[in-house]
Amino acid sequence: MDEKRVAIVGAGISGLLACKYAAAKGFTPVVFEEQDKVGGLWNHTLESTTLQVPKQLYEFSDFPWPSSVKELLPHNTQLTQYLQSYAQKFQLLQYVNFNSTVIDVDYVGESEEEMNCWGGDGKAFRSKRKWILKVSHSGDHGSIKEYEAEFLVLCIGKFSGLPNIPEFAPGYGSDAFSGKVMHSMDLAKMENAAAAKLIKGKRVVVIGSGKSAVDIAYECANLNGRDNPCTMVQRRIHWMIPHDAQPWGLSFSFLFFTRFAELMLHKPGQGSLFTAATILLTPLPNFYDRVEDGSILMKKSKSFTFCKEGVILEGEAVPLQADVVIFATGYKGKEKLKNMFASPTFQNYIYGSPNSIVPLYRQMIHPRIPQLAVIGYTESLSCLFTFEMRCKWLSHFLDGEFRLPNIREMEKEMEGWEKYMKRYAGKGRSCIGGVPIWYNDQLCRDIGSAPKRKNGFISELFQPYGPPDYHHL
Ligand SMILES: Cc1cc2nc3c(=O)[nH]c(=O)nc-3n(C[C@H](O)[C@H](O)[C@H](O)COP(=O)(O)OP(=O)(O)OC[C@H]3O[C@@H](n4cnc5c(N)ncnc54)[C@H](O)[C@@H]3O)c2cc1C
Ligand SMILES: NC(=O)c1ccc[n+]([C@@H]2O[C@H](COP(=O)([O-])OP(=O)(O)OC[C@H]3O[C@@H](n4cnc5c(N)ncnc54)[C@H](OP(=O)(O)O)[C@@H]3O)[C@@H](O)[C@H]2O)c1
Repeated sequence: MDEKRVAIVGAGISGLLACKYAAAKGFTPVVFEEQDKVGGLWNHTLESTTLQVPKQLYEFSDFPWPSSVKELLPHNTQLTQYLQSYAQKFQLLQYVNFNSTVIDVDYVGESEEEMNCWGGDGKAFRSKRKWILKVSHSGDHGSIKEYEAEFLVLCIGKFSGLPNIPEFAPGYGSDAFSGKVMHSMDLAKMENAAAAKLIKGKRVVVIGSGKSAVDIAYECANLNGRDNPCTMVQRRIHWMIPHDAQPWGLSFSFLFFTRFAELMLHKPGQGSLFTAATILLTPLPNFYDRVEDGSILMKKSKSFTFCKEGVILEGEAVPLQADVVIFATGYKGKEKLKNMFASPTFQNYIYGSPNSIVPLYRQMIHPRIPQLAVIGYTESLSCLFTFEMRCKWLSHFLDGEFRLPNIREMEKEMEGWEKYMKRYAGKGRSCIGGVPIWYNDQLCRDIGSAPKRKNGFISELFQPYGPPDYHHL
């Protein structure tokens, strides 16, 4: 009988979900995780980091948050506990090899020309073709071993591991600066007390205006107040919505997770209607108070360079003096994914073009890379909810319940999303944004399940959708 081994790289939220749903279909997944515990990036966050969506949306469909967690937006420590409990409850730890870094993956069994045919039969498994994973085990003196699998799921995380650090002309980069320079990822990895010591009494400049930048500026402001205000340098202005905001009196769930709200939105592959998109961020509740009281200063500058005393912003003659400069400039998720592949052809396929999103059918499958799925590379307003839907879909696919369409059809679907995301999420950003139910409908149809999961017309239109609606998928 043909073997059907499933290997999973990463034991963050996506990896745990991929493992759980593969095991539920009778597979024995083998998970490789470079950390010594599950939970992924939630094991290393800033002290103040909380969930940024209400917890009922960031909840496993069959594992509610414990009643002891009263907060709407739980703290990162509550998140790690919740994820560990999930792994224990569904006995997932038995599948995970910790302290095991996958160095690269290679597809063997046929020539690269012959590989172009997921769509040949559209099945998850093909006889005699497999992936070879090269794994370094830090717990075993760094020994390197090879493992085989007929199907590979990459769950390596888009926002961790490989930081995005701006490049500078020689003489204008961090070498010119006498102070300390670091990335938000490294600050998040520090013990809380050590991070506070690094910031206390210092003039801090934070580059970026994403959620990491907002959180760091807020933590600096709390430690240093107006005596040493923290300066946040924004390349672009974002529309930030406070976490407790209720525009027009409507809840977050109603605005983003009802069919009624989606009715008015343009969908991928459809003609343009009108734009209701924005970049949404949920800054800490008192962020604006800190701006008003002068402990956070905001500057807009498209570019900057370093000098001995700090940074020089575009169009400004006087340097912005600093002791510490923190790059909250995000991650190179696409490069990280590309680096996983030994084959240059597959590297090029998965990377796409510099400004493209990772090209994936249903946000999981590359039409020209067989026996492989990627989970976690397209964001949504609740990643856990979306990743769980994807892993459910994937488990049905692995189980042979449906087949993929031909390559052309997959590429057409991807083109629709590419245009949609370029328009609404921004350059190179991949987010299913305002149409999570529309997206889930497609996954349900593939699986052969009813997309409409409420009782009655009114509920279907106006009641927010959440993970429990898809519990039995
Ligand atoms: C600080 C922060 C807060 C966030 N908050 C929210 C939020 O509130 N709501 C929301 O919806 N989304 C949020 N996100 C988005 C977030 O990315 C997802 O919600 C989710 O936690 C990502 O899970 P993941 O498993 O895909 O990735 P990760 O958590 O990054 O896990 C990837 C795992 O893969 C392992 N790994 C990577 N490479 C290898 C390798 N080569 N070999 C072996 N193991 C490897 C890593 O060690 C890690 O454990 C946040 C992101 C960040 C950075
Ligand atoms: N739960 C939480 O509270 C929490 C906390 C932190 C992060 N997160 C999530 O984690 C993910 C990553 O967030 P992030 O803030 O680390 O990264 P991010 O969202 O990618 O934001 C990066 C920021 O850096 C700026 N930037 C990038 N390159 C730059 C350059 N060369 N020069 C100047 N500015 C540059 C970007 O500017 P532009 O805007 O102009 O592109 C952007 O403002 C997001 O999904 C976020 O929501 C959540």
